[in-house]
Amino acid sequence: MTAENLKQHPEKSGKIEKRPRTGFHVGEPPATKAFVLLPWLKLGADQRRSSRERLDEAVGLAAAIHLDIVISEIVTLDAIRPATLLGSGKVEELGEQIKHQQVELVIIDGQLSPVQQRNLERAWKVKVLDRTGLILEIFGERARTREGRLQVELAHLTYQKSRLVRSWTHLERQRGGVGFLGGPGETQIEADRRALQDKINRLERDIGKVKKTRELHRKTRRAAPYPVIALVGYTNAGKSTLFNRVTKSDVFAQDLLFATLDPTMRAIELPSGRKVILSDTVGFISDLPTHLIASFRATLEEVLEAEIVLHIRDVAHNETEAQKQDVADVLKSLGIDLETRAESKLIEVLNKADLLDEDGREALEESAGRGGNIAVVSALNGEGVEALLEQLDELLTSDTTNLSLAIAPEDSEAIAWLHQHGQVVESVSDDAGVTRVEVNLAGPEVGRFEKRYPRIVEAALAEFANAAE
Ligand code: GTP
Repeated sequence: MTAENLKQHPEKSGKIEKRPRTGFHVGEPPATKAFVLLPWLKLGADQRRSSRERLDEAVGLAAAIHLDIVISEIVTLDAIRPATLLGSGKVEELGEQIKHQQVELVIIDGQLSPVQQRNLERAWKVKVLDRTGLILEIFGERARTREGRLQVELAHLTYQKSRLVRSWTHLERQRGGVGFLGGPGETQIEADRRALQDKINRLERDIGKVKKTRELHRKTRRAAPYPVIALVGYTNAGKSTLFNRVTKSDVFAQDLLFATLDPTMRAIELPSGRKVILSDTVGFISDLPTHLIASFRATLEEVLEAEIVLHIRDVAHNETEAQKQDVADVLKSLGIDLETRAESKLIEVLNKADLLDEDGREALEESAGRGGNIAVVSALNGEGVEALLEQLDELLTSDTTNLSLAIAPEDSEAIAWLHQHGQVVESVSDDAGVTRVEVNLAGPEVGRFEKRYPRIVEAALAEFANAAE
């Protein structure tokens, strides 16, 4: 859809075009001009966040899909109008600004009823997105795996289905798109709903298939020779920056929200020489719609299986405590309780310490010194990162490591070694004489095994890397 269509069909509930092509423009097409509006109820507002912080976050989210934000504004409301959310005077006043600034898209950082959305689009003659719509756009742009893309599409359709209001029938009929599906006498809205439901059913089947394949891969992945460390945290907390610093890999780390959507994994070496697998995950945001939580469960499965979870926090953010609570809430809904998670399984990483003044840093270091697994770091300049790795080492060496290895017939001597030095949980040979061994080894024994049989460990890692692609 181009900017032109957006104007002509503001009610069309499709995906928005982030960079509309206009005329014979040479070079980079201009970004869609957008207006970000935060409705703020005088009473009953979310007390955990200030309106300014909320607006900043919304602008950050909008920037993640390359919109050109020409106006951002907090609109204080006495009450919510069922028809238009805002009072009629305000709608008119904003309409003038929208026209004057040639805004093509309005983002309302809140929940809009389908009727409110339709009425505002009519009044302003531009496309209007609410918070869920915006998040869906971002997820849609960032999803990289097949499953991720299908999940976003499914969430999108479910959202659209819930938004079918009368005006749609008119538009759909004009388009002549899905109308033929309805039998005689069936109203257009029912036909639309049925067409969407058919698409939803098909997507669900596809997702089921992709999940099965993924499960197979995950089985191989579980055979990771080293313990998995998962990074979680609020969006923009610095997960990718930390991941890159530690792995020196070039994961897409930039000042955009959701730069990391699919889990990314790398094997790294801790100061002791012990190896672990680091897994980066998607960032959390406040008020994540329920159906989106479900759609991203898949990308967070690694966290459930992780030996240690690193909770990365942006301590320089004014709302750092509220963010911490948000992450805990979302994880809890996925069955991971940060509160009750054994201390040995969680490190709270207080990131962006470089942005704090002397007093702020002292306070942090004091709280870190009070016990618990807390690390104060700057992923940007590297401060505290080495100490964090040492902390990981300490947590891990107290445990035994579960290794899964495939041992070729010519290395069968290694099997005897494992029986002698560790606890073999499983040992199964295939037709080609390759033995899959699962063994628990104490920390120092892992190092000895690696020195003695480097080829076996390298092969296990290569297998893991292929499965993680
Ligand atoms: P999502 O992918 O959205 O979940 O974000 P993320 O948690 O992976 O954040 P990312 O690593 O992309 O960092 C976000 C922004 O914060 C970037 O501009 C980083 O340069 C910046 N940043 C990360 N760590 C630090 C730090 O320790 N200090 C400072 N000053 N900035 C940092």
